[in-house]
Parts: sequence; structure tokens; C-alpha cells
Amino acid sequence: MNIVILGATGGIGSCLAENLSSNNNLFIGSRDLNKVNSLIEKINTSSDLNISGTKLDASKFDSVKDFLDSANNYLGSIDCIINCVGSLLLKPAHTTLEEELDQVYRTNVFSAFGVIKFGFKYLRKNGGSIICFSSAASMVGLKNHEAIASAKAAISSLVLSASSTYSRYNIRINAIAPGLVETPLTESITNNKMSLDYSKNLHGLNRIGKPDNFVPMVTSLIDPKSDWITGQTIAIDGGLSNVK
Ligand SMILES: NC(=O)c1ccc[n+]([C@@H]2O[C@H](COP(=O)([O-])OP(=O)(O)OC[C@H]3O[C@@H](n4cnc5c(N)ncnc54)[C@H](OP(=O)(O)O)[C@@H]3O)[C@@H](O)[C@H]2O)c1
Repeated sequence: MNIVILGATGGIGSCLAENLSSNNNLFIGSRDLNKVNSLIEKINTSSDLNISGTKLDASKFDSVKDFLDSANNYLGSIDCIINCVGSLLLKPAHTTLEEELDQVYRTNVFSAFGVIKFGFKYLRKNGGSIICFSSAASMVGLKNHEAIASAKAAISSLVLSASSTYSRYNIRINAIAPGLVETPLTESITNNKMSLDYSKNLHGLNRIGKPDNFVPMVTSLIDPKSDWITGQTIAIDGGLSNVK
């Protein structure tokens, strides 16, 4: 398959890129070209398949459009787009600045919207699959998550409507909702013993996740045999959203 990954240099994105590179062609991106090139170099030594990529700012529609155009030029066609771009802002609503909320929505909601908006052109002919990242924080009330929880809930609602709109093109659109996962995004929590212990305790399984935990579900969702799964937000969260 020909797979495009946005946010591919992050914790979950790089793990997916490395795993999917063994039997798929990949086009990857994030804002830092050096990181994109380093990941391509690392993967290239262990895979005979094609991999390339470039930088983009997924919070801007024009950049997502150009990126997907480049991906299609390189791959020849696109079967699947995975958007791992995201951010984290932990603040109560009363101290959240307008600029901060704008940034959270641009990075999370606008990037997911852009992927669907501009990905349609490339998936409309043969169908395909889009995966976005929501969050377990949108499914359970967690303190100080107002901005990110509402942005991630918007992604799940976007996925629901878009999966209906594009179903007649056989484009399946799903979201994954992680609990707390050990990645660069969450270093400020996981490097602090008190915050880490508090967070573990919120998860039914009493431990936080690893990027590897997402490989089975993503591999399964993009598999054409999963062609009856669409419009879902699937929690992979150690029980954060529903097990106490
Ligand atoms: N880790 C968790 O606990 C957790 C929990 C719930 C949901 N999620 C969601 O899961 C997804 C993956 O998270 P992660 O933990 O792997 O995060 P991460 O390690 O911070 O990776 C995020 C990736 O997105 C890229 N990125 C950020 N802003 C971008 C932009 N404007 N344009 C292009 N690329 C951009 C980053 O690279 P550059 O900075 O170099 O651009 C990086 O490659 C995100 O949507 C996140 O919100 C994660």
C-alpha cells in the first residue's frame, strides 16, 4: 500500500512509520526537515520499499495541500493517510489565552480537517482509509484539559460526519483515541514522578501506554479486509476513558 503519515517524526508517528515501512511505500512529514530526513535514513537501511518525505505545517491548509500533492507525485497514488500531528495544552479555561486556544485548534482540528479536505482528491477514485488521532481526554472529564479535550472531540465529530459524506467513494475515516502515552508530547508529565503516578492511577490498567500499542490497531484499520469499519473513534487508552 501507499501510505502518507503526517506528524511522522513524533513518538507514535515514528513508531508507525518504522513498522509500516516493512511492507508499504511511505511518504512522511512534519515541520522539521532534519528530523524527517533522519527518519527516512534510519528506515531506508532496513527496508527495500520506497520512502520519502518533506516538511509541512499541518495547521495551515495550503501546506497540507502541497504536502499531499507531493506525496501523490512521489507515490503515484495514495491508499491511506494517517494524521499523527497533535499538541497538548494543560490549563483551565480561565487562564487559557485566545492565541493558545487558536494554536491547539489549528494543530489538531485544522490539520485533521485539511487531511480530509485535500485527501479526498486522491482517495476518491479507488477509495482508501484516513486515520486521525483524537484523545481519551475527549471521552472523560479530566481537569485542565478544556482546550485539548474540546479539540479532540471536534476531531471525533469531524470523523463521524466525513465518514458519512465520503462513504459512497469507499473512503473509510476513523479516529484513534489514546490515553497517556510515553512520547515527546508528554515528557513534562512522564518525567515528573508525582504527575506520572497520578496519571497511571487514572488508567484502569494502572500504567501508561507506549507507541507500540498503536501498531496492531492501525495495521488492522488500514487493511482492506477491515472495509466495514468507518466513522469510529477507537479508544486505545489502558482504560482511561471507561475503566476505574
Ligand atoms: N502521547 C499521548 O499521550 C497522546 C494522548 C492523546 C492523544 N494523542 C495524540 O496522538 C497523536 C500523536 O501524538 P504523539 O504523542 O506521538 O505526539 P508527538 O510525539 O508530539 O508527535 C507529534 C508529531 O506532530 C508533528 N507536528 C506537530 N505540529 C505540527 C504541525 N503544525 N505541522 C506538522 N507537523 C507537526 C511533530 O513534529 P514537529 O514538531 O517537528 O513538527 C511530531 O512529528 C497526536 O495527535 C496527539 O494529540 C497523544
